[in-house]
Amino acid sequence: MLKDKTIVIGVTGGIAAYKSLEVVSRLKKLGANVHVIMTEAATKFVQPLTFRSLSHNPVIVDMFAEPQSWDVEHISLAEKADIFLVAPATANLIGKVANGIADDMLSTTVMATKAKVVFSPAMNVNMYQNSIVQKNIIKLKEEGYRFIEPDKGYLACGTEGKGRLPEPEEVVASTVSYLLSPCDLIGKKVLITAGGTQEDLDPVRYLGNRSSGKMGYELARIAKARGANVTLISAPTHLNKPSGVKIIKVRTAEEMYQQVFRYQAEQDIIIMAAAVADYTPQSIAENKIKKSNGLTLELERTTDILEKLGNEKGEQLLVGFAAESNNLIENAQQKLKKKKIDFIVANDISARDTGFASDFNKVVIISTDDQIEVAKATKLEVADRIFSEIAKTLV
Ligand code: CTP
Repeated sequence: MLKDKTIVIGVTGGIAAYKSLEVVSRLKKLGANVHVIMTEAATKFVQPLTFRSLSHNPVIVDMFAEPQSWDVEHISLAEKADIFLVAPATANLIGKVANGIADDMLSTTVMATKAKVVFSPAMNVNMYQNSIVQKNIIKLKEEGYRFIEPDKGYLACGTEGKGRLPEPEEVVASTVSYLLSPCDLIGKKVLITAGGTQEDLDPVRYLGNRSSGKMGYELARIAKARGANVTLISAPTHLNKPSGVKIIKVRTAEEMYQQVFRYQAEQDIIIMAAAVADYTPQSIAENKIKKSNGLTLELERTTDILEKLGNEKGEQLLVGFAAESNNLIENAQQKLKKKKIDFIVANDISARDTGFASDFNKVVIISTDDQIEVAKATKLEVADRIFSEIAKTLV
């Protein structure tokens, strides 16, 4: 996926430096050429040798060390980079860049690059909330630097709060989203639904489906990377929360309907990627249903959220998904018309290596006057293609 891409990773001196090892390893596995620059402080936490072994490239720490080649190293890496990730980014490094201070190899290279720069801050919660740090972050964001929001949770200093480096998988997903996507949704509000709803039968059982939620989560990541303000309404999944996205957890089709309509009015774009149950039990048994009593299920229709959105549609752009096992295009086109939406993303769920639960998808993006086939690709790449089509209609 990242073949021919060069990613430079800056590692600063925080305890989360050990997590960057896995970030490097994951980016290598995706095919990227990875170079690591460490601050002196970072080497107190992790040995440069470990990064060298994982990145298969020399690690740079000292500005005045004998060069490995005749290139001026910080300039050459600054030029080579397709994207520059600093993870973890300490308050110190953020402060330096925000104030134009370049006094070591990492800060010098960050300032010399024209590539997109992404900071993934990790620090003590009070330090993160310190108004000077926050002002520096705002200043950098205004200058076009991107950020991966820290997670809330237990911090190494023994406190709880916002300041944890997100899981390496999430840091990688956000970085790749930033790499793939242009920043063309600034100021837009995007609502995305994801996952399969669960309709309760009794206190322990439900009717569900096999949707993993991956497609919706990747759409949320890409929308965020493109600069949108993103709300993700998610049915239960096992996925990590996309960084910087507002997440609302629901279980049933009814709860999803309520939440979508709570936020609907203010959105510019709504994408229904969730697999919403079409039927729900007429009543939920108060106690666990015993098999000795036999079982007949009486079901009733749920609200078709997308159709209702289509019927009430104003300027808003609406996107639906059509998961089909036969007559893909025909069925999808019918849904596009019936639900009065702008795009429908059709995918063939009978294909084994794409669709439900897979990391890959192969789709056709259909609008009233166009049909774009997206060849098999990761769901993140497919999400990016979907937003590229959407973005064309916004200008
Ligand atoms: N959808 C919805 N509310 C529902 C059911 C579906 O908003 N109660 C949305 C899905 O999120 C998806 C689109 O409608 O974006 C199409 O869903 P799909 O299940 O493929 O189609 P259905 O409309 O349910 O039609 P059918 O079951 O006949 O295939």
